[in-house]
Amino acid sequence: MKKIAILISGRGSNMEAIVRAGLPAEVAAVISNRADAAGLKFAAQAGIATQVVDERRFPAREAFEDALAEAIERCSPDLVALAGFMRVLGAGFVGRHSGRMINIHPSLLPAFPGLHTHRRALQEGVKVHGCTVHFVTPQVDHGPIIIQAAVPVRAGDSEAALAARVLQQEHRVYPLAIRWFVEDRLVVENGLVRVNETGANQSVLAGND
Ligand code: GRF
Repeated sequence: MKKIAILISGRGSNMEAIVRAGLPAEVAAVISNRADAAGLKFAAQAGIATQVVDERRFPAREAFEDALAEAIERCSPDLVALAGFMRVLGAGFVGRHSGRMINIHPSLLPAFPGLHTHRRALQEGVKVHGCTVHFVTPQVDHGPIIIQAAVPVRAGDSEAALAARVLQQEHRVYPLAIRWFVEDRLVVENGLVRVNETGANQSVLAGND
């Protein structure tokens, strides 16, 4: 069974959705850069090993990222899932996890990379908004797109109302993207993701019939 490490910074509702999805994978660790991340409690109660790499103890980015990589390697995961992990990761760290690190972003990328996506969507007057699960590359919020979900932006929406509508979709698509990953169904070609009908292993078997 493939192993997943989930990185969080706060609430951890996406992490919770992934754990609750009952995927054919083991959530081997939940790692936070903040000791007070609320999601750590849920993870511990679910019997998942938790680790804190406290960013305040590592003022230099490289030292922080080395400690984070070490924490991740402790459970040798097949996949690293960033779920509300509020740190920009350097090219070295990203390169080390290339092809096996994914992120969820609360906008329909390439629109609104970065912070305050819901506020900016309302300011721009877009009529649809949503979320994106993508592979992580050194350029923040720009990696190959695995899945997106769109929601309507309604007249009079507050930032909180729009965020809640998007979050519901995040909880649906992130576990699905991870399912595809652990089933070996994701193929990246020229920066684009294809989702195979069956996993790589299964198609090899089918080819042998
Ligand atoms: C989510 O909206 C996620 O897309 C963004 O930060 C938020 C984290 O929420 N990157 P949670 O910690 O998963 O509840």
